[in-house]
Amino acid sequence: MAKLSIIGAGAVGTSCAHWAVIKNLAKEIVLIDVIPDLAKGKALDLAQSSPLFGYFGKIWGTEDFSALKDSDIVVITAGKPRQPGMSREDLLNINKEIVKSCAEKIKEFTPQSIVIVVTNPLDAMVYVAYKVTGFPKNRILGMAGVLDSARYRYFIAQALGVSPKDVQALVMGIHGDLMLPLVRLANVAGIPITELLSKAKIEEIVERTKKGGGEIVSYLKTGSAFITPGLSIIEMAEAILKDEKRVLTCSVYLEGEYGINGVFLGVPVVLGKNGIEKIIEINLESEEKNILEKCASHCKELINLLKL
Ligand code: LAC
Repeated sequence: MAKLSIIGAGAVGTSCAHWAVIKNLAKEIVLIDVIPDLAKGKALDLAQSSPLFGYFGKIWGTEDFSALKDSDIVVITAGKPRQPGMSREDLLNINKEIVKSCAEKIKEFTPQSIVIVVTNPLDAMVYVAYKVTGFPKNRILGMAGVLDSARYRYFIAQALGVSPKDVQALVMGIHGDLMLPLVRLANVAGIPITELLSKAKIEEIVERTKKGGGEIVSYLKTGSAFITPGLSIIEMAEAILKDEKRVLTCSVYLEGEYGINGVFLGVPVVLGKNGIEKIIEINLESEEKNILEKCASHCKELINLLKL
């Protein structure tokens, strides 16, 4: 049993801790936030749920980053969320400083850990963490593809009136409106969705998936989605801690894969105890390739704006 640390006791960090407690994923869960007492309060609330269903680990909160010591996984959720009308990119400079300071603390206190970045704009923020920690690329990854693919799978299941469990689909690329929900490979129990849904309906689902986060921001008004983001992080953490070799889409550093270099983008990978154990390269059709290249160029622009 492992130690999981979560930086940021906002909605996503708390939801992530909640799912970790429900799954009894770690013997120790630490919630860290710079706001005095916030993490303590959230962690205590979560801890008090344990007699009701039997979480047997320890969960606690603090504002002291030395609590990161000996973490197996550190999740960075700290940062400002989007408000209605904001794109994820609008958060670039505010969140860069926050992620940078978290990454410095991770490097100082738990240099062997695997880092999952969640702060937006996601693919640029993972890059910040990668540069600042200097960790090898198998130990730095971003959570987005699991969430975007879950949204895509849910919308397909809903359109067909079938169990979401039987829907497999993946969303590659950037965590933003340019993302690439792959239609060709989406299927229900092995049956391509192109056999089951009209072109127009598929197009509608693809568009809704791309704007999936924004739709929730527009309803919530004061923040972004947190329940499925929290579970998506835990899917990745669980795959690593249990060495499951899951195939999940994560934002990872590309060095030539898909013909792309020097940026983080969402692609399918094998996740196990070493973090990213393999990047899976699939053959893309030319239109899909174009979209992925557009995602890479956009990510490069963001990286240039970062001035690291
Ligand atoms: C979303 C945020 C977490 O997509 O980026 O809901």
